[in-house]
Amino acid sequence: MTAQLNARGDVAVLVPAAGSGVRLGPGAPKALRLLAGEPLLVHAIRRVAAAPSVRMIVVAAPAAEVEAVRELLAPIAAVTVVAGGKERQDSVAAALAVVPAEVGIVLVHDAARALTPPALVESVAAAVRSGHPAVIPALPVVDTIKEVAPAAAAETVLGTVDRSVLRSVQTPQGFRHEVLAAAHRAIVDAHTDDAGMVERSGTPVVCVPGSESALKITRPLDLVIAEALLAVA
Ligand code: C5P
Repeated sequence: MTAQLNARGDVAVLVPAAGSGVRLGPGAPKALRLLAGEPLLVHAIRRVAAAPSVRMIVVAAPAAEVEAVRELLAPIAAVTVVAGGKERQDSVAAALAVVPAEVGIVLVHDAARALTPPALVESVAAAVRSGHPAVIPALPVVDTIKEVAPAAAAETVLGTVDRSVLRSVQTPQGFRHEVLAAAHRAIVDAHTDDAGMVERSGTPVVCVPGSESALKITRPLDLVIAEALLAVA
């Protein structure tokens, strides 16, 4: 069923999915890997579209796949599909470029976090709306973390890191529109995460509680967990 986005919403969600490995058809990795018979991107967009604040969704696809991704997503929601760029941040910038200035909040979301609940999209957006320029969902680190001296054979432990001050970060990451746009104008070196770019520009970034359901589905075990989560949902 095609979800109706909220024309009065104040949130745009950008989904960079233009990595060179992303293609339709057999062997499709990452965003188009199947979970319960549907691509991760479809699961992710369906949940984002169910968040009441979301006014627009922009997916960055490989240039050759823009039309195919548009067709894939058309039955889910009215999604804008643009051609991505060379690096992930170029793809985010290409998606950001089509967001009108009057949309005040921009979230950047990873398609691999396909089961992210709409409530997490809302809580990140609400924290930005309440005055924080940059917001990330984060979970405490559960494992004990060691710092090691890298070595091909046995690594030597240098010390134990205080995990009480560490957080494991998820998406969607939320920003005031102008804060994300300014970071993209100012930062040219490679970053894997948008909050990292915003941190570099000196803007405070705050955490809100993440969700176990927003796990990044990357390894075979993650698919098993995701299927189990779908079964109980
Ligand atoms: O390859 P990597 O894991 O860094 O990709 C992270 C995300 O960024 C993936 O969803 C990928 O499709 C996306 N990406 C992109 N444009 C690129 C490279 C990666 O949208 N040029």
